[in-house]
Amino acid sequence: MKQIIDRLRQNRDLSDGDFLTLLTEIGEAEKAYLFAVARTVRQSVYGDDVYIRGLIEVSNYCKNDCLYCGIRKSNQKVSRYRLDEKTILSCCDVGYSLGFRTFVLQGGEDGWYTDERLVAVIRQIKARYPTVAVTLSLGERSEDSYRLLFEAGADRYLLRHETIVPEHYQKLHPAKMSLKNRIDCLETLKKTGFQVGCGMMVGSPFQKMEYLIEDLRFLQRFNPQMVGIGPFLPHSDTPFGEQSPGSVELTLVLLSIIRLLLPSVLLPATTALGTAAEDGRERGILAGANVVMPNLSPADVRMKYLLYNNKRSYGSEAAECLNDLKRRMEHLGCHVVVAKGDYKYMP
Ligand code: 5AD
Repeated sequence: MKQIIDRLRQNRDLSDGDFLTLLTEIGEAEKAYLFAVARTVRQSVYGDDVYIRGLIEVSNYCKNDCLYCGIRKSNQKVSRYRLDEKTILSCCDVGYSLGFRTFVLQGGEDGWYTDERLVAVIRQIKARYPTVAVTLSLGERSEDSYRLLFEAGADRYLLRHETIVPEHYQKLHPAKMSLKNRIDCLETLKKTGFQVGCGMMVGSPFQKMEYLIEDLRFLQRFNPQMVGIGPFLPHSDTPFGEQSPGSVELTLVLLSIIRLLLPSVLLPATTALGTAAEDGRERGILAGANVVMPNLSPADVRMKYLLYNNKRSYGSEAAECLNDLKRRMEHLGCHVVVAKGDYKYMP
């Protein structure tokens, strides 16, 4: 096992057989070794810095009906909201004074957010805070739209691919969504000039280990600047409400593997990981992650943006509790920094 891990670090690659062994047969001591190697590689690129991103959940309206997601269109129990420009800007004001230098505007696919409205809010944020990065996570849009958003000043875009296996994608999404469209969007985003993030859920219904290996192959090919992964967690008002959650342990192993495949990737310890285990975020950092994304949304909407049951938005998940998060990171030998936290291109 140790040789496989060393080979992964050396070659940034493994055979399918070795990936499978690593994912299915790794023991506790070997995991500790894998995590330590992943931390060393993270350290060589980013030192002990942990980047924070202020997450602003701008809308829980969504035209899509993804079978796993709590804010899917057919969930009638959701109390829907969207934030207007003024509210988003005041979230940024709070965030900026707390030390955030990246704001992530995330939301369902909400037609109210026209290019015009988004361009206006991006310009406002950039005018007020010229040194921050704006990250968007607003789903699939047209090439023209992505271009306008980029030209308005948005720097990064997150769009998880969810799974790279078409038949699997089809089982997680309604018929009118397609993996092809998702990948086309990712390619367009890259071509437009964004720093791009993709990623998959771990342990989503119908997933097989072989599929995760395909996901890793896709990450190698696409070479994104950011990768977001977290365990699938059921939401009771969705068709997958009775399915079992994804494994925290497997998520951690995958985080380490991704760090070794893509040494300079910006890799968050996600809210899903922090929800699935009390110490999930810390363990994510210890497995090689280097980003956390505390919640900056207005307090009264946080409980409405529930992608899965028990989603955390308080404690160290909350921007107001940044000191708590900082302390937790210092315990791990890491430091939360006030920085834009761009991707580091390595020779
Ligand atoms: N469990 C875990 N992650 C989820 N997401 C959506 N629903 C769930 C769920 N039930 C993730 C998806 C999406 C991101 C915003 O949240 O990967 O891309």
